[in-house]
Amino acid sequence: MDRIRIVGGAPLHGTIPISGAKNATLPLMIASLLTDETLVLDNVPRLADVAQMKRILSNHGVDHAVDGKRAGQNGMAGETLRLTAREIVDTEAPYDLVSTMRASFWVVGPLIARMGEARVSLPGGCAIGTRPVDFFITALRGLGAELDIDGGYVVARAPKGLRGNRIVFPRVTVGATHVTMMAAALARGETVIENAAREPEIVDLATCLTAMGARISGAGTSTIHIDGVDRLSGTRHTVLPDRIETGTYAMAVTMTGGDVLLEGARPDLLDTALGVVAAVGGEVTSTNEGIRVARNGSGLAPVNVTTEPFPGFPTDLQAQLMALVTRADGVSKIRETIFENRFMHVQELARLGADINLDGQHATVTGVKRLKGAQVMATDLRASVSLVIAGLAADGETVVNRVYHLDRGFERIEDKLGACGAAIERLSG
Ligand code: UD1
Repeated sequence: MDRIRIVGGAPLHGTIPISGAKNATLPLMIASLLTDETLVLDNVPRLADVAQMKRILSNHGVDHAVDGKRAGQNGMAGETLRLTAREIVDTEAPYDLVSTMRASFWVVGPLIARMGEARVSLPGGCAIGTRPVDFFITALRGLGAELDIDGGYVVARAPKGLRGNRIVFPRVTVGATHVTMMAAALARGETVIENAAREPEIVDLATCLTAMGARISGAGTSTIHIDGVDRLSGTRHTVLPDRIETGTYAMAVTMTGGDVLLEGARPDLLDTALGVVAAVGGEVTSTNEGIRVARNGSGLAPVNVTTEPFPGFPTDLQAQLMALVTRADGVSKIRETIFENRFMHVQELARLGADINLDGQHATVTGVKRLKGAQVMATDLRASVSLVIAGLAADGETVVNRVYHLDRGFERIEDKLGACGAAIERLSG
């Protein structure tokens, strides 16, 4: 298993190209199941989760192809991916394909909408809490599907097709909003989703579905209207930039000091997080090319932050923020409200010398003067990258084990940071 070795202490200077968003790419890929025509996605990141989604879709009968390199394109440019679900040959998503990635469960929506049946294994993914699927089940039942759980599988049937309805989520859910929007696009009549997720990735999916012929309004607000249509067509769509990758590198630069252009980043996708970066001590400037983050080496300020659905501070940046404030001058408070168990990084940050006290969903971080490199390991994607951030600022050598978590969500992290002066390398095997 690969590891990442970091020798801390170097400030970051240069340019980091921001990749297409993983959390948008996966539902967009799944949307290809809704049409027998080709969906072309540009700016697709090279990630293990994208490769896994290709395998899952292949099993349903989706052909996929990646365009070759074009003149003038460098190795960091996103890929162009063509997906064609001319015929769905299998409506089952088996355990061995679904168990590693929660988003793969979302195929249930398009499969039931287009084929009237689906048998999808209950999901796996990062170990960050119980992550149930009751909202998905209630929403699809609301659209007229019959659903049972049988032997670890959700078995869904809608022999007469889905019909529109009013779906009210008890709490904001990104996954079930994606799935309901896709299923309702091909249902008979109107669907209204209330308390819908407002994340930019929801807007990106709605934009793509609309270009495919869906009739959707209100994406990006808490109420989404969908007028079902009989069929959807292919289209070409560019994946939006990854706001979590952007926020992660913004925090890395604030941690190490330096001056980095996050090329292609869009500040409007992470206003709240950039505000927190600025409060900690990063200088954040929007430019025509992206976002510049700089810090001149003066101290870091502590913050009080609560994770919330968009437009609040994202749970996917909680671990990285915690790494950052381990070296603040004072006491920070971080409250996690999305997942009850998303604190696996705490113990590992402590191995580097961080002072963190956990009480339920509250973490109290007392800043320390120095972190010291150590062997660390993380069991989820964002926790892994928080250890990289801490390692960049720690004295001496940090080795992050189990790098496959990083490869699920961060494209070529060692190349991007290495190009800005970080002493970071991948150790194979
Ligand atoms: C969540 C995050 C998303 C993040 C992703 C990966 C939110 C609102 N969602 O999306 O930002 O990118 O994790 O880290 O910030 N829930 C249920 N029943 C369900 C579905 C969800 O109780 O059927 C609960 C979850 O346990 C969680 C909350 O609702 O506490 C939000 O979950 P949801 O947004 O659906 O999760 P993801 O789509 O994985």
